[in-house]
Formats: sequence, C-alpha cells, structure tokens
Amino acid sequence: MSEEPGRTTRRFLTPPFRQVHQHLRTSMENLGMTVHVDAVGNLRGLWIPAVAPGKRLILGSHIDTVPDAGAFDGVLGVVLALELVESAKLLELPLSLEVIAFSEEEGARFGFPFIGSRAVAGRFDTSMFANKDGDGISIRKAIENFGLDLEKLEDAVADRQAAGFIEIHIEQGPVLEAEALSVAAVTSIVGQTRLDLKFIGHANHAGTTPMHLRHDAIAAAAEWITKVEALAVKSEGLVATVGKLAVQPNAGNVIPGLAELSLDVRHVHDSVRRAAVDDLVEQAQAIATRRGLLLEWTTKMEEPSVPMDERLTALMTTAIESAGFPVKTMSSGAGHDAMIMAGRMSTAMLFLRSPGGLSHHPDESVREEDVEAALRVGEKFLQRLSAEFG
Ligand code: GLV
Ligand code: MN
Ligand code: MN
Repeated sequence: MSEEPGRTTRRFLTPPFRQVHQHLRTSMENLGMTVHVDAVGNLRGLWIPAVAPGKRLILGSHIDTVPDAGAFDGVLGVVLALELVESAKLLELPLSLEVIAFSEEEGARFGFPFIGSRAVAGRFDTSMFANKDGDGISIRKAIENFGLDLEKLEDAVADRQAAGFIEIHIEQGPVLEAEALSVAAVTSIVGQTRLDLKFIGHANHAGTTPMHLRHDAIAAAAEWITKVEALAVKSEGLVATVGKLAVQPNAGNVIPGLAELSLDVRHVHDSVRRAAVDDLVEQAQAIATRRGLLLEWTTKMEEPSVPMDERLTALMTTAIESAGFPVKTMSSGAGHDAMIMAGRMSTAMLFLRSPGGLSHHPDESVREEDVEAALRVGEKFLQRLSAEFG
C-alpha cells in the first residue's frame, strides 16, 4: 500500500490511505468494533464490552510513512493494538478500547508532523491548514479531497477523562539490541525543532560570472550544513540533521539561485536544543550576509521534551516483569504521537527491539519473538489496568 511501486511511501491522505483504511476497517469490524474516520483522516475503531464497559483506554500509532520507509514504523503499533483488542475480548476485560490509526506523524507531505494526533489532543491551529505540499495542494484541500469535513474537527478531540493512551513502537535505535532485550518502557520523548530555510541568491551564467561576483545559494547552503554537523558533533547528546535540500534552477551550467533546506534538531534538554537552533540560525544569517544572499526561515515544529506518565509507565514496567522479561526503561530519541497525546491524557509507551538499530529505511525489521513479547506485555498491562478499575 504505497504511492510508489517497489518502495513504501505513504504520505498523509495519499491514495494508498484508502487501501490501508479499508484493510484496517475490515479487521476492526471483524473484532466487533465500530469504525469511523475523523475530520483529519484518523481511522478510529471502538470496542465496548457488552457486560462491563469500564473506562476507555486509547491505543494506537501512525499509518503514514517517510519516503522509502520500512514496514514497521507506526503501523506495527496499530496492528498490535488490534491484537490486544482480541486479547481483551478473550479475557473479558472490563475496559473499552479505542484504536487510532493516526493519519499523519512524520511530516513527510506538508512538513508539519502530528496532524493526526494534534487533532485528537485538541491542539490544532487552523491557520496551519493553509500550508501546501510540493504540488501546491494545501492541507485543507487534501482533507477535502479525501472526502473529510474540517467542520467536524472538534469531534475528533478525545475525552480528557480517558484512562490513557498507550503506543507500542519499534525503538528505531540500537539500545535494546546492544543489551539483548526484547522490550522497554519509555520514560520520556526528546524535544524536537524542525525548520525550513531558504538561501536566496542569484542565478547566473556559470561560465561568465567571476567567482567574486557570485551569490551562489548552494555554496552558502553547503557552508552552513558543515556548521550544523560541527555543532552537533561537539555538543554532547545533540543531534542535528539537514535531511532535505532542493535547489533551483538545478542545472550544471547555472549558478544556483535558490537552496531550500530542512533542519531537525533534538536534545533531551530543551534549553540545549533551543540554544543550538538559535546558534545555527545566526550562523546561517551570517553566511547569507557575507555572501550577499537573503535568508528566510520558518519553524515547522517546536515540541519540548515530554515525560511519560509515571503511573502508567510503572504499570508498564510491572507488566514487563510479570510477562517474564527484564525490566528496562529508556528515553526515546524519535518523535511519536505519544508526545502529543501526553498533553491531553496520561500516556505511556512500549518499545520493541529494532534489529541493526535501523529505521526510516526499507531494511527496517522486527523479530517475531519481540512482537510476541510486546503482545504478552500488552496483555499483562491491560489486565492490571482493568484490575484497577474492577
Ligand atoms: C519520527 O519518526 C521522527 O522523526 O522522530
Ligand atoms: Mn518515523
Ligand atoms: Mn513512528
């Protein structure tokens, strides 16, 4: 289910979303869940036990991907959530379960991550819907084209009184593999800033324009990118990435007039991240000024570090132990829908080992034994949570 043959690329509300929705809807309906798609394209299934409905726990993850993605980032958490609904039914747990397949987490189409979870957490800013993708289609238009109604945005917001939100996700890093562990409870998710920047110079003839009369946008961008890497290398725990670069006119015999770049900066301490972002923007400005270029930049995302809920995380570590696995806790360097949901309700996460520490890559994988471990831990978690309400 992909936009591109031979590669997994599934950006927000692109045609393969219909196939994914249909596939998951069938699974949800087979489980006896009532299903709907909310105003921003989150597919939501609700299981309410007939006998003792109990409180509602929300489970889920995202179904969008980065370009040329692996098969497990996000969607594994949705499929495992559905397996846990099956377990809860068999165990006759007094718990209502809502499974959300979030429509947008990566920011791959519009540069704005978390469109799906922001809506559920009640954190949407309607001005962002004017932003356009590479084909000039706005978020609002993409939503309308999918047959959804933004007037119903308020209906997407989850009740604060829910028992909480649980996300199961691959670690996407090497820690669990290095320690030969299947699973871990997540204690916090690091903060992230994402910017879009433009170095605006002048295109001109590559043969006739002397070097000292040029305003070369790629040369400016290249100088700055090495500064980004250098700052991150010398700052403990800081990661900074320029992952996207588009240039114009993109021809071998023309001095580049425009370079558009992305910047992604992360650190566990928000103050370190913010200082790094300020420093890098200042350096970009200085490079642009010295070279006679203009710099424009916009913030696409700014999320602080988010702790997971202590009580639910303690319940998760107890579940890990009672399922027979060593207890391991760790923080997450990747962003997750859980970091947005945590602003709305108590939230916890469970990580599974990522073989080779590989993710955002088609070779991303999981081990079957770790998937089984996650299911067993999830089942114990649901049992313990139900006991609290029972
Ligand atoms: C989400 O995958 C992220 O970039 O952390
Ligand atoms: Mn991802
Ligand atoms: Mn993910």
